[in-house]
Amino acid sequence: DKNGYEHYMLKEIHEQPTSIGDTFRGRISIDKTKIFLGGIIDVMPKLTQAKRIIIVACGTSWHAGTVGEYLFEEYARIPVEVEYASEFRYRNPIINQDDVVIAISQSGETADTLAAIKMAKEKGATIIGICNVVGSSIPRETHAGVYTHAGIEIGVASTKAFTSQVTVLTMMAFMIGRKRGNLYDDLYKKLIHELTLVPEKLEIILKSENYIKGIAEMYKDATNALYLGRGCLFPVALEGALKLKEISYIHAEGYPAAEMKHGPIALIDENMPVFVIATKDKSYEKIVSNIQEVKARSGRVIAIVTEGDETIKNMADHVIEVPDSHESIAPLLTVVPLQIISYHIAVMRGCNVDQPRNLAKSVTVE
Ligand code: M6R
Repeated sequence: DKNGYEHYMLKEIHEQPTSIGDTFRGRISIDKTKIFLGGIIDVMPKLTQAKRIIIVACGTSWHAGTVGEYLFEEYARIPVEVEYASEFRYRNPIINQDDVVIAISQSGETADTLAAIKMAKEKGATIIGICNVVGSSIPRETHAGVYTHAGIEIGVASTKAFTSQVTVLTMMAFMIGRKRGNLYDDLYKKLIHELTLVPEKLEIILKSENYIKGIAEMYKDATNALYLGRGCLFPVALEGALKLKEISYIHAEGYPAAEMKHGPIALIDENMPVFVIATKDKSYEKIVSNIQEVKARSGRVIAIVTEGDETIKNMADHVIEVPDSHESIAPLLTVVPLQIISYHIAVMRGCNVDQPRNLAKSVTVE
């Protein structure tokens, strides 16, 4: 049931304030001072003492894992590697008993991810799952896990599952950071509080859908697009590009913003839309100069910015504002306008949004 929406994808985009809330509800104490993830309690000693965390996943789940890498290294201070499950399983990877492997999968059925954890388990690693479908194959192979509680996702293009995966990884990063003594009381409480504000901030972003649709209209005939971000917003750039490719069939690439000058800058001209995720954080000044580099070559800049940002407004062709937040929370906010743009561009191009060509909801073949 599409609940009055034209497509499942649009319904699922709009469900995100609720689905993210469902993901953290019951896992954050009422007074917002503690995080409790019951499903991984038994492996917490392994996790907090892990020498290394390896995240395995495919597609959008791999992008969520890459957000997790930034947050885990920042707050938990544990080295993280994010692996495409298909590459990891076939290259005789070095795994030992002090490693913790986290498999991320909406469906819990992705063949490569399942095979990767079976192999890592045989080699003695501790396996944790972050999955959406309860009782699916991956959770049955793991030692412990956290369900994302996003609710059933029908659109082939993953939206609410991604934000729930990122929510779980964010909670894990904060909780492990706290247990390892890296986060003091005040900061820990502030971070938890910031996470609980996400649903209401997303409601605000969703109210600007018509404005975002207007921007989509201007770029619907593009043949290429670039997406740029830095830090934990770089994987959001990758995710924005994937959303556009898979449902609108426009070629799109995501890049870390500073990598642009090592090649992709050659593509920029007045026909190239460049989506820049440029909210206020520690790399803000750097991303502002990346925007200048694009404008100097006549590229069209659509920037996702923190509300009230006048500097970028004066440089970019369009800005989409998101409410101010702590930088660790920005992936959850900034991905949503990118989902909305892709959705509307695909609809305007007459594409089958919920069932794009050549794609299946779960990839159970390798
Ligand atoms: O069910 P999974 O999370 O394991 O699926 C992984 C990918 O197949 C999936 O994220 C795919 O990239 C989506 N179509 C992205 O929207």
